[in-house]
Amino acid sequence: MLLEQGDHILAGADIYGGTYRLLKKVLNRCGIEVTLAPSTDLAAFAAAFRPRTRLVWIESPGNPLMSITDIAACAELAHRHGALLSVDSTFATPVLTRPLELGADIVMHSATKYLGGHSDVLGGALVVGDPELLKRLHFIQNATGGVMGPLESFLCSRGLKTLELRVHEQSRTAALLAEFLAGHPRVRRVLYPGLASHPGHLIAARQMQGGFGAMMSFEVDGDLAAAKRVAEGTRLFQLAVSLGAVESLIEQPALMSHASYDPADRRAHGIADGLIRLSVGLEAPEDLREDLEQALARV
Ligand SMILES: Cc1ncc(COP(=O)(O)O)c(C=O)c1O
Repeated sequence: MLLEQGDHILAGADIYGGTYRLLKKVLNRCGIEVTLAPSTDLAAFAAAFRPRTRLVWIESPGNPLMSITDIAACAELAHRHGALLSVDSTFATPVLTRPLELGADIVMHSATKYLGGHSDVLGGALVVGDPELLKRLHFIQNATGGVMGPLESFLCSRGLKTLELRVHEQSRTAALLAEFLAGHPRVRRVLYPGLASHPGHLIAARQMQGGFGAMMSFEVDGDLAAAKRVAEGTRLFQLAVSLGAVESLIEQPALMSHASYDPADRRAHGIADGLIRLSVGLEAPEDLREDLEQALARV
């Protein structure tokens, strides 16, 4: 809503399916142009700028491929082109990454996820450093009514008190599960920025502090139906698209969180039919490992 008809948004390719839906299927009706390009490949990303690019939108780690984008480099690129850099930092949480310190102009969090932390609140936050930008956004918020109710505010405020503890513990468990999955014969590949094999590992190690997060994806050695059997076969991991809460969740992006992607875009962006996404909660790591082990027997 900061933008005007004819303006252009350049978004990373690895983004939440609902953001894709908003950008490509709603904002386009207001005459806002949108391009998706890989923000992990700075040369390709730079080539996608247009004269009217006013906003750059990225996620790191990205959803659902856990791609890592160099936030500081993107900030420099956006500013060189006269655009604002906005980072959806929901996966990274404020505990592990602070995009404003890396040059971003706007940080967005879905408070529904880690900030609330208990799957019992819907909310969101925009964080900015520039008081002028804050004024412009506050004007829009006041005019359009995106205001949190008292109970949701209370739940978020209570969740924030344990945010750091939860995120560190969940990240530790996620790292153990990523190692386990990487060595499993029925798993084709594991996407977790904490693994040295992850293409963005070095940037993540520089940009994230105290852990690599509790989100990960992996591809089973099978088709859509095999992945569906795994996602539906866990007992502790609940089948749901949300994330970031104390309970562990599992989902299949091609059928669930990223079903809004046009199939061609989904394939072009590497979201395979056999991909499964995990949000690792606070259960005992060995229980979660056993749960994945028994579900993977269904591949
Ligand atoms: C990275 C990311 N950003 C934003 C959202 C949207 O959050 P909400 O459900 O609070 O609208 C999600 C939700 O799944 C998400 O995964």
